[in-house]
Amino acid sequence: MSEYWSQRFRQEGMIWGSEPSPTALLARDTFRQYQLKSVLVPGAGYGRNTKVFSEEFQTYGIELSQIALEMAVEWDPMSYYIAGSALYCKLDRQVDAIYCYDVLHLFLEEDRRRLVANCLEQLRPGGLLFFTSFSDEDLNYGCGRMIEPDTYEYKEGKYAHFFSEIGLREHFAETEVLETGTQLETLRSPQGVTHTYILRYILARKSTL
Ligand SMILES: C[S@@+](CC[C@H](N)C(=O)[O-])C[C@H]1O[C@@H](n2cnc3c(N)ncnc32)[C@H](O)[C@@H]1O
Repeated sequence: MSEYWSQRFRQEGMIWGSEPSPTALLARDTFRQYQLKSVLVPGAGYGRNTKVFSEEFQTYGIELSQIALEMAVEWDPMSYYIAGSALYCKLDRQVDAIYCYDVLHLFLEEDRRRLVANCLEQLRPGGLLFFTSFSDEDLNYGCGRMIEPDTYEYKEGKYAHFFSEIGLREHFAETEVLETGTQLETLRSPQGVTHTYILRYILARKSTL
C-alpha cells in the first residue's frame, strides 16, 4: 500500500489540495469543547488535516508513505510525525483524541478491526475518536468486483469498504458512540479539478472502565 500512495503523492503532489476537510474543523471544535490537549492523526497524508489541530493541540501524525511525510513536514511543521503503519505503531504516551480521515475504508475487515483496536490502545480512557470513511450511500457503492461484504474493487486494482450506518457503529462497538452523520465532501486538486462524494463520520468516546 505504501508504494501505491507514494507514487500518487510523487505524481500528483497535494492530491486533495491544501484545504482541510470540513470534518476536521468539526472534530477540532468538538475536541476544543472538551478541552482536550493532544490529537493523533493516523494516515496523516501530507498534513492538510493535521494542520487544523497542530495550531492548538499537541498533534501526532502516523503515515506509511515517506513522500507524504516529507510533504507533511513542509506543510505542517508543527505536528510530530511517526513513520510506520497505523495498524501497529505505538506512541510512548496515550493521547486525548484521534482524528482519522478516510483511512479505515482502505482495509479488509481484519485490518479494519486492527486499525480501530490499535487506535483505541493509543487513546486514554474517556478520550474521543472521530473517524470518516466512504459511505454505502456513495455512487461507487456496489461498483466493480465484490471482495468482501460492502468492499468493492471500484477502480481497477483499488478497493474500498463502503460503510453502512450499522457497519460503522459495529466497528466501534467497544466505545460509546456520541454522534454519526453523513456529509457531501468536495475535494479540489491543485489544478482546480473537483470531486464530490458522500462520506460517513462517527464521533465516539473510549470507555473509562
Ligand atoms: C485517502 S488518504 C487520506 C490522507 C489524509 N488522511 C488526508 O486527509 O489528507 C490515505 C492515507 O493513509 C496512508 N496510509 C495507508 N495505509 C496506512 C497505514 N497502514 N498506516 C499509516 N498510513 C497509511 C496513505 O499513505 C495516505 O496518506
